[in-house]
Order: sequence, then structure tokens, then C-alpha cells
Amino acid sequence: MKKVIVTAALPYANGKLHLGHLRSTYIPADAFVRYLRMKGYDAIYICGTDEHGTPISVRAEQEGKSPKEVADYYHELIKEDLVRMGCSFDNFSRTTKPLHYEITRKFFEKLLERGYVEKKEVEQLYCPKCERFLPDRYVEGTCPYCGNPSARGDICEACGRYLVATELKDPRCILCGTTPILKKSEHFFFKLSALEGFLKKWIQENPKLPANVKNYVLNWLRGGLRDWCITRDMKWGVPVPGYENKVFYVWFDAPIGYISSTVEWAEKKGDEKAWEDYWKGGGEIYHFLGKDNIYQHAIFWTGMLKAHGEFGLPTAIVAGEFLTLEGKKMSKSRGWLVEIGDYLSRHDPDPLRYYLLASSPLSKDADFSWKEYARRNNDELADILGNFVHRTLTFIYKRYGGKVPEPKELDERDEEILDKMKEIVQRFCEDMESFEFHSAAKRLIELAALGNKYLNEKEPWKKTVEEGRTTFYICAQLVKALALLMAPIMPFSAEKLWKMLGMEGSVHDQRWSDISRPVPPGTSIGKPEPLFRKISESEVEEERRKLEERSRRALYVTAQEFARMDIRVGEIVDATRIDERRVLLKISIGRTVKQTVAGIGEWYDAKELVGRQVVVLTNIEPRRIKGYESNCMILAAEDGEGLSLLVPDRKVERGAKVK
Ligand code: MF3
Ligand code: ZN
Repeated sequence: MKKVIVTAALPYANGKLHLGHLRSTYIPADAFVRYLRMKGYDAIYICGTDEHGTPISVRAEQEGKSPKEVADYYHELIKEDLVRMGCSFDNFSRTTKPLHYEITRKFFEKLLERGYVEKKEVEQLYCPKCERFLPDRYVEGTCPYCGNPSARGDICEACGRYLVATELKDPRCILCGTTPILKKSEHFFFKLSALEGFLKKWIQENPKLPANVKNYVLNWLRGGLRDWCITRDMKWGVPVPGYENKVFYVWFDAPIGYISSTVEWAEKKGDEKAWEDYWKGGGEIYHFLGKDNIYQHAIFWTGMLKAHGEFGLPTAIVAGEFLTLEGKKMSKSRGWLVEIGDYLSRHDPDPLRYYLLASSPLSKDADFSWKEYARRNNDELADILGNFVHRTLTFIYKRYGGKVPEPKELDERDEEILDKMKEIVQRFCEDMESFEFHSAAKRLIELAALGNKYLNEKEPWKKTVEEGRTTFYICAQLVKALALLMAPIMPFSAEKLWKMLGMEGSVHDQRWSDISRPVPPGTSIGKPEPLFRKISESEVEEERRKLEERSRRALYVTAQEFARMDIRVGEIVDATRIDERRVLLKISIGRTVKQTVAGIGEWYDAKELVGRQVVVLTNIEPRRIKGYESNCMILAAEDGEGLSLLVPDRKVERGAKVK
């Protein structure tokens, strides 16, 4: 039996998942693996949470927790959401397990042994105030390529470029705002440059790589590949053997998690070597991920596998583009998203799976809107698919004593319908194999619409029970085929339908090759029940209201947030113009080191400012402006006439708190 492994990018255990994650990665991967299992392949779905790296340690530090506590909490939530959405994982592991540490270490040692890793002394950003190196997300600055002012030390999310922290312009420590210094440290580098030729060829010649992935990577490859630093000076992560305070970079250990999760799966089922058939035995390997993970999988991970030498290479890397919500970019901070748990508290998983797959090709951006969701649910799932199934089953239930009737001789139209059914199933399979899930989802509706059309033409309700036998026999075959097509896309409703049709076993154990094996006449069907619930206009309004409300709440400043702002009255002790346009003033406040660069030169003369009391936000994140440190902010009102400084209405003690 052909061995296939399907993976979905390991989500960071630092937040809940939302619809965007489902759409780009977890639902397509699940539909695909379910499809393969029905093809008779030995296909397993492997995932887990990605629990290392600065995404988790930064969050933990901000919340005053340990990284493990943060990861424990989100691991459970993420797993539960995905399973409730029908993701049929064979194993869902965590990268903090000892087994993963061991496998990562061995992987590294193998690369070392094969000469793909070398040690170098490099200069890295170090915060003198916090006395620590600033890996990845601990440093922010301006992207040297696109100018995004809040690029991170490892990647610029605005332009998607992979960065080396020392390239950032105006870098600052995210914990204290200090400008880091360069300090020498020893690190391991993976020799990506040696694999450049191989990777280019592999990407160009891989027949299964979707075009969006191919183009994206080839574009980056034009700039050449630099060796990749795979270690970090920090404590949270898989320890580098032989070092106290060094761990592997999260993007080094996380994809190895695909392997360690498979090994864990094999151990759990008591067949320790079973994982090797997938990774080492020429099995196929499919990685599903969001488009922001393409580079890491196509370059880093594929390079690592190649360099290691004992594992297979990805058969395909399938990347889902982004999902917008009601036409707007999703955002955690603006509260503009739908969490999975929240969705599931009011709705079923299947209509969402259908929507996310059907709405547009995976390789294109898509939008989720409640109105469109309700429309597709009502018009396509309920009115076409549900309706055909319901008509068929109710007729059989009421007029044929609940048994699939024995057909008479099939006429031309009956035969044609069965042929069309096979053709649609065939197309569905082709779509699934080429990752055209939106098209596959539409085949379902196409088949149901065909059934409705056939019933309307035959008008069995105008005929005797005897005359209608063949028609309902044919319809029962269509219903069975529909249950099969539904299985990868809407697994819960498919199973329900399978049972209703009186079929044995589970729909998920069926094979595509059985498509033409008929439902035997005489099969007893169950009492028909509607498969899909219609979603009313008022529900849509309610959901939209909830969403708006959520984003409004995200705009509020909580009392605690306000309390974090240290606003005080200060006295200006010095002010100097620093630009030719005479707009920017460098202003020193009080006897402390508080200083700001403010664009008020148009309204105030530097000299007249000295000695005045002003209102100052003292703990704003420090920045450098025109080469000067700016670590506070003077508050002013602005109207049509320009700026006016806020001042207390009597002279107050210097440093008085504003509340
Ligand atoms: N945690 C990463 C993210 O959410 C994905 C890791 S995928 C793996 O962006 F390959 F590293 F596992
Ligand atoms: Zn610092």
C-alpha cells in the first residue's frame, strides 16, 4: 500500500487559531488526507504545536509566565479546536517532548558529520541594559529593504524578507527600548549556499509544486542563498549539545517536529519502525502551510532533508494564501477575526469547511463574510444538496416502505445519469489531486443539481409507485456518490448521510473505486432528517454585530492599559532646532535624561520654550529620530490654527502625575 504522509504547519502555541489558519492550512490538508485514505493509500495526517522560539518566550515574558505554561495552555486549546473542526490527525504532538529533543539533536549531529554545518564567530545584537543577546523577536527595527519601521530580527512581515538582525536599521530591544550593541558569539551555520544549485533545480523541476509556491521561491532564489544561522543565545528551545545557553533556532527544530510526531505515532501504535516507511521508504510527503511559511519549507526544510541524506524530500509543498474577513485584513489587535471556538459555539463545522474550501482557489486570497457564508450554506448546501437528498430519501421512506426499490430496465437517460455521476466523481478526484479544492467542492453541488434536474424531468410524483421504481433506484445511487464526495469535505454530514442511506460501516472507510458498486435494492434506509440547517438573515446580522462589537471593544483602552501610561508634568530645560526646515526641536525635560524630538518648531520658538511646564508621556517606546534618542512625548492639541501645548492651569510640582 502506498505510504503517504500529510503534514500541516505546526501552529505556534502562543494564541488561538482563527478562520485564516483553517483556510490556508488545516482544512485543505485534512480534506486531502481523507481523500487519499479513500483512495486506499496508507495516508497519515501529522501535526502538533510549535512551542519554541521567541514567539512563545516573548509572550511568556510579557505575561509573567514561563514559556512552558503558555505552551501548555495553547496546545490544548489549539488541538481541541482543530479536532472539533474535523481534522483527522493520526498524531498531534508537541515540540517540547523529550523525543523531539533527541531527534533534533541527532538530526543536527548528522548534518555536522556530513559537513553541512559549521561553527563561526559572529557579531550579534546584545542589549547592554538587559545583559542578553537579542534573538529574532527580541529586537525590532526598520527593514533595510522596504523601510517597514517595525521589522523583526528574523523577518520583515511587510515585505516577507528573511532578515539577519544586524541588518536592521535603528534596532531596539523590545524589552527596554535600548539600542543594542554588537557582541561576539559563536554560532552554528547551515551551509545553505552549498545547496543553492540543488534547490533551484529541485524547485524548477518538481512537477507537483503549485505555481504560487514555485514562483515565490524562485523569485527569492534570484538573490542567492546565504548560510543560515541555526542557533540562538537563549534558554528556551532545544539545547545545542555542548553549550549552556544555546538552543536551536525555532525554524530549525520545528519542521523536524514532523518527523518526531511521526515517530511518536509509530511508538504509540507499538510498531516502532512504522514511521520509516513514510520518511525513508520512498513514501510521498505533502506539506500544507500558509503562504508566510513557504520560504522556510521550500528552502530551509528541503535543504535540511537533502543534507541529512536519509529522508525523502517533499513531494509537494502546498501553500494557502490569506483570508480576509468582511473584506478587511484580519487582526488580533484590532479584534477583527473569528475564533474557531467561538464559531463552533453557534455553528456546525461542515458548512465552514465547505465555505473555506469552495470560496476560491487555495493559491488565491479569499474572503469570509457572514452574508456570503449564509448564502452558500442556504443556496448550495441546503437548497441544492440537502434538498436532493431529502426528496430522494423521503420518497423512498414514504412510498417504498423505506427500502431502495428494485429498478426496471434502465432507459437512456438513466444510463446517462449514471455515466455523468462517474464522470463527476472522476473530475472530483482529479481536482483533489491537483489541490484544486474549490473546484472539487463545486463538483458536489454539480452532482446534486444533476440529481434535482433528473427528478424534475422524470416527475415520479405524477406516476405510480411501480413506474417510479427505476428513478428512485438511480437517485439512491446518486445519494451514495454524494456521501462519498462529501466525506473529505464535510466529514460529519457525510457520515450522517451514509447512515441515513442504510449503508454499512463508515463512509470514511469507502474507496473511490467502489463508486460504481450500486446500493443494493432492498437496502433499508433510516428516517430522513435534514442534513443542513438554514442560516437566517437575523443570524447573519447577529454575527456581524458580534464582530463589530468585538472590534469596538478592541479599540477601548482598559483602565489597566491607561495606568501603564506614565504621564507627568515636566519642565523644559533645553530646546534646540535640529533641522534646516526648522520644524524639529530637540527638547530636554527636567533634570533627568528625558528628551524628545518634536515637530513643533513651526509654532514655538526654541528659546521661549525653556522654563515652561508641559505634559509629557514619559514611557513611550524609545526611538531614534534624526540620530537623536527620543524617549518621551510632549502632549499638544491640534486644530486648524496648528499646535498648542497642553499645560497645567496652575504651576504644579515638577514630576506631578497626570491621571
Ligand atoms: N509555527 C510556525 C507558524 O505558525 C509554523 C511552523 S511549521 C514547521 O508560522 F514546519 F516548522 F513545523
Ligand atoms: Zn533591553
